[in-house]
This record gives sequence, structure tokens and C-alpha cells, in this order.
Amino acid sequence: MTSRADPSVDTAAEADRVEAAAARRLAPSPALLERVAEVRTELVRRVEEAARARSSPLVRALVAGSAARGTFLADRLDVDLFLLFPSDLPRERLREEGLALGRAVLADPETRYAEHPYLRGTFEGFRVDAVPGFAVTDPSRPLSAVDRTPFHQAWLAARETPEVVREVRLTKRFLDHLGVYGSEARTEGFSGYLVELLVLRFGSLRRLLAAARHWPVPVRLAEPGREPPRLPEDVALVLADPVDPNRNVATALSRRNLGLVIAAAAAYLDRPAESWFDVRRPSMHSRAEALRHLAERGTHVTVVSLPRPAEVVDDTLYPQVRKAARAVAETLARAEFVVLGVTTALDAERVHVVLEVAHADRPAVQLRSGPPPGIDRAGDFLAKWAGAGARVLQGPYVREDGSFGVETARKERSVESVVEAARPRLALGKDLTPRDPSRIEVRALGDTEDLPSLAEALGELFDKRLPWLPPR
Ligand code: UTP
Ligand code: MN
Repeated sequence: MTSRADPSVDTAAEADRVEAAAARRLAPSPALLERVAEVRTELVRRVEEAARARSSPLVRALVAGSAARGTFLADRLDVDLFLLFPSDLPRERLREEGLALGRAVLADPETRYAEHPYLRGTFEGFRVDAVPGFAVTDPSRPLSAVDRTPFHQAWLAARETPEVVREVRLTKRFLDHLGVYGSEARTEGFSGYLVELLVLRFGSLRRLLAAARHWPVPVRLAEPGREPPRLPEDVALVLADPVDPNRNVATALSRRNLGLVIAAAAAYLDRPAESWFDVRRPSMHSRAEALRHLAERGTHVTVVSLPRPAEVVDDTLYPQVRKAARAVAETLARAEFVVLGVTTALDAERVHVVLEVAHADRPAVQLRSGPPPGIDRAGDFLAKWAGAGARVLQGPYVREDGSFGVETARKERSVESVVEAARPRLALGKDLTPRDPSRIEVRALGDTEDLPSLAEALGELFDKRLPWLPPR
């Protein structure tokens, strides 16, 4: 890192001051905490009442998550209400009963989709997610993704003190400021549960950052030899779930996002400031601004647009969108383009992959290398390129290093024509592959209409600088 601690300032004392001020801002008021506690009790009571009224097989209702522990950020408070049913209840019934009980207690209910459909609605002014799950007795053998929740709740509640709660809120805001708080596939960041485990393990945000500034990626915080099995190849952080040691709590976190936090840890510890705990909006660029950057940088932006599949939930869609972006970028890199940046944007109808490349066109001439003349394969090379009908611009000839070379003309030169030609072979996600490849549209940014949905993606392409550095 370039930013060294300023020796004339006591950075630890400054960090104490900054964190105390931020913690004061983040602490929910006693009145809010009291209201949340009332809502928790009232929600559970009302669900149990509704369950009795319809003779529902509900085993237990509980509020878990940050609203149950006071570890929420007041400006993104949601109440997580879990409705637990017997393990042997058919999934179809679980769905019906969960939704029915949610509807009985929530106002303005809206069905959302995860592994099982759940309801988002409001209760006395609070946003509530009513999520169905199975009441399992062993959290290492869950039947659905949310079944470990009551065990998480019990494990954390037994360990958290007011100091830990304060540090959890600080840490959530620190990560949120960097855009890496949240375990949805869209964010690929830190889940609330992961933050609480990290704070418990290190004791405070400061001690977590002091450790993190020296982390090599991937980071293994699991005990040696006791790592969860089946880690993905690109795992960033390994931390076993205390209630289910075979599960990695940090599966959602990407290497990029962990790398950003490691860099931020050093920068913050060297120069603590209250602005690290501000809410930060992502940078946006209009199409006109982006075109000005292009002119200045001498680069080119192309937009690949795919039809957006209906009824695919975000957590399923986003990994496929990233896969599509990788597929296009790799196709271009193999076609000898220099890819400077790739990002994605979604709107109601389409998924866009947005790429910045160093040149809009690749060279007209393609140099193909052949084998050295003395080996068997040399005959095949000559048969292919030396004949009267061979479409060569120049050659074959022997190159400086003693091997054959031949120069041919490129059919497709522009980035758009290369992607268009590759459309039938692109490894897009399963829901993103259109039956008719011609539905994949490829346009230079200058040829697209002004799509407001691209603003954030263009901001990402042209504003990559570490966010805590002063503007250039
Ligand atoms: P949240 O994502 O709402 O986390 O999941 P949180 O701790 O309440 O944090 P914030 O403040 O809202 O961001 C609530 C609980 O649901 C369980 C976890 O135990 C988590 O604490 N959960 C959630 C799962 O077990 N599996 C999931 O896939 C999602
Ligand atoms: Mn929550």
C-alpha cells in the first residue's frame, strides 16, 4: 500500500475516536430496540394463533437474524421470521402452510422465491420476511437451506455481548461502504452471520482488520486438517460453520471482494476516518460520459445483450450472468483482443455484458505458427497452406526461430463481428442461452440507445480506482 500511517498522529487513538463516533451513529435508539422486541414477541404470538386457527402442523415460529440480536443496521432492518414445520412434512405442504401463515400475519404480502417460496410483507411498519423451513434436530443434516438458522441464533445469542453487538454493526457498515456486505449472488460479499462469527473470533472490527491486512487469498480460518470438504476451486475464505463444521460460512464471498477488504484494512488502520462508515452510492456514468472516457482513453466498449429469462430468481440468475460475461471475455481474449474490463447490467427485458477492449478491431493479418520443417507434421502444414487454393496472404516461410509460419487474412476484425460469429458456441448459462443465437445482440456502445440500466456498469468500468484514494 502506498498510504503509510502518518507518524505525527496516534492512529490507534484516532481509530478509537472514529469508531466511537460511528458506533453512536449506528446504534439503534432504545425506543427502536424496544419496538423491535415487541414486534418479535407479537409476530410469534400471532403466527401461533393463526396456526391453531387453521390446524397447521407448525412446530415453532421464531424471529432469528439480526433483528433478534440487535446486530442490524437501522437503515436496512428486516425482521427474519422463520416458520418451522415437521421434518416429514411433504415439501408441497410446507410451501402452502408457510405462505398461508405468512399471509395471515403480514400486510401487503409479496411472494418471493428462494429454495422455497417465502413472503415479504410488513408488520406494524417493519419489513418482515416469513420463511418456511423444517424443524430439524441436527443442524449438520438440514433438509433446506434455512434449517440451521435456529441453531445459529442460539449459538450467537449465547456468546454476544453489547460490545460484540456494537462491533458487528461497525463491521457491517465498513463492509457495506465498500459494497461487499450481503451474501446474495448479486453481491458475492459477507453475510450477516459471517460478520458475527468473524467479530466473535477476532474480538473487534479493529482486530479483525489488523489480521486481515496480512491475509493471503485464499484465507483459511478453519482448523488445519478440519476444513469443510467440497470447497470450490476459487474459494476466497474458509470458515467452518460452528453448528455444521462441514459447511463453509463464506461460500458466497468472491476473491475480488475479499481482496478489496484486505487492501481497505491496511488503508483504514493507517488512516482511520469517519468517512469509512458512510453509506456510499455506486459510481454512475451516463452513456455520454462513458463515450468521453473512450475518446480520451482510445479504447472501445461493446455491449452484448441477451434476452432475460422470466421467472429465474436473482440467486440463480447472477451466477449465470457472470458466467456469460466470462465466456464473452474469454472468447475475445482468445481472438487476440486486450480485454480491459468486463461488467454486467440487468433490466426488465435483457441482460447486458459490457466490455472495454483496448482496440475496436484486431489486426487484418493473422500470423499462424507451424512446426519446425524437420518433423513429420511439417508435411501436413505444407499440404494445408502451400497448395494453389490455400487462402494465404503471405507464406508459408521459415521464421527466425526455424519453424514454419504463414500469414492469413482475418474474416472478422471488429469486436462486434467476432462476438457475433461466436454466438452459437458461447458457453452462456443454461437459462441465458437463447434457442436462436441471433437473439444475442452485439453493439458498440456508440450504437446503443441510451440505456439507463447501463449507468452502474459503465461506472464500474471507468471508476475502478480504490474508493478511499483521493481523486486523481
Ligand atoms: P440474513 O441474511 O437476514 O442475515 O439471514 P442477518 O444476520 O439477519 O443480517 P442482516 O443484518 O439482515 O443483513 C438471517 C438468518 O438466516 C439464516 C442465517 O442463520 C441468518 O442469520 N440463513 C439465511 C440461512 O441459514 N441460510 C440462508 O441461505 C439464508
Ligand atoms: Mn436479517
